[in-house]
Amino acid sequence: MPEFKYKTMGQQFGRRSWAEPWKIKMVEPLRMLTPEERRRAASEAGYNTFLLRSEDVYIDLLTDSGTSAMSDRQWAGLMLGDEAYAGSRNFYRLEDAIRKFYGFKHVVPTHQGRGAEHLISKALIEPGDIIPGNMYFTTTRLHQELAGGTFVDVICAAAHDPTDRSPFKGDVDLDKLEALIRKVGAEKIPYVSLAGTVNMAGGQPVSMANVKALRALTDRHGIRLYLDATRMAENAFFIQEREPGYREKSIAEILKEFCSFTDGCWMSSKKDNLVNIGGWLAVNHEDVFEKARNMVVIYEGLHTYGGMAGRDMEAVAIGIEEMVDEDHIRSRVDQVRYLGTLLLDWGIPIVEPAGGHAIFLDAKRFYPHIPQAQFPAQTLAAELYLDSGIRSMERGNVSAGRDPKTGDHRYPALELTRLTIPRRVYTQAHMDVVAESIKAAFDSRDKTRGLKMVYEPEYLRFFQARFEPLA
Ligand code: F0G
Repeated sequence: MPEFKYKTMGQQFGRRSWAEPWKIKMVEPLRMLTPEERRRAASEAGYNTFLLRSEDVYIDLLTDSGTSAMSDRQWAGLMLGDEAYAGSRNFYRLEDAIRKFYGFKHVVPTHQGRGAEHLISKALIEPGDIIPGNMYFTTTRLHQELAGGTFVDVICAAAHDPTDRSPFKGDVDLDKLEALIRKVGAEKIPYVSLAGTVNMAGGQPVSMANVKALRALTDRHGIRLYLDATRMAENAFFIQEREPGYREKSIAEILKEFCSFTDGCWMSSKKDNLVNIGGWLAVNHEDVFEKARNMVVIYEGLHTYGGMAGRDMEAVAIGIEEMVDEDHIRSRVDQVRYLGTLLLDWGIPIVEPAGGHAIFLDAKRFYPHIPQAQFPAQTLAAELYLDSGIRSMERGNVSAGRDPKTGDHRYPALELTRLTIPRRVYTQAHMDVVAESIKAAFDSRDKTRGLKMVYEPEYLRFFQARFEPLA
């Protein structure tokens, strides 16, 4: 019997226990399929966890996107939806909340994050442009490419090493960026694309010192700086915890200070903003606002709803207030780190330090015998489902896609399986069950074989690709 079962969380971390800062008002029953049913479901889904039916999943750690539990205040807010086509009251509530907590002047609502990525990419990028950023994100990079740009990774080297425990692995390598600007010329760079935290690096934060220096560097070259604020509340928490001078500042103050060094941001409200659907773009420059506000009516909806219902905008506005609550954000990140600590205690390789939204298993070290061409991270996601009905996600060779020039797989340095924790949904007991399942897959790792891709769609292939087990 694993020892951790008899330790309280406080004993685990060497301090008094804390508990989730909420109680449960409504429950949603979970069911685990039998092993035979799971084998059938995995095979029908082509061993791709995106193709499983949610009903066939026991604990769903596919994503933290749109999977949060809303609060009683947010549910009450839905009843205040003003479903007018134009000028809904809830839009102005949302605009006020964004101005107050993020500090940007102009707001354009969208149906979700990628709607905002589409607008900002089309508004700013000309064919042939270069967009430097701190590691790619799938939809962000694709929109930059579809607008004619090329994304260039300028994240610090530590981000590519899952064993490097540096506190701010999301930081931009300023020398790399400076060298790129010198090589291609500032006029080819419409903006720097900064994400806090960095999803694909394991939810790693960017320091305040780095964004400050980045602002100074981009100002020297007349380049704009835009932020992917999807998980910036979690980034603010890490700054408060780790960066000198920020211990006494509130999450709200840190968030606003960070945003003040950028020209605007795009947002997937489905994460930090604690809602099931929604997104927005917020910018300071009038010219970008003009373009985005005009384009939103083509692609999303009128500029005062952008694809969201009035009630959705109300829920986002309330979610923004709740996201900066100190107890909320601490318990959110600590739950992720609790799972990480259990795994590290058993010698299971994860990306360190644990990030804000997920634990990333390092599939290269988990399955050293499976070559990257046989998709070790995809294999591990399939194995966890087969073991216990837990759903995780591949973030490795399948997610990285093919190089548009050579047509070959991109073979990224990081080959990871992501266990993403929805906000306010699962308890510590669920985390224990997840940890035990990963341990079971780890104990039988030598017997595990890789996968072969048998169907590959053209765009964002990880969503719909199909696989078969290798004999
Ligand atoms: N930026 C980041 C950093 C993201 O993680 C996501 C979505 C987006 C932008 C796009 O937002 O989904 O609302 O269109 N990430 C999800 C995930 C899908 O599972 O990590 P969206």
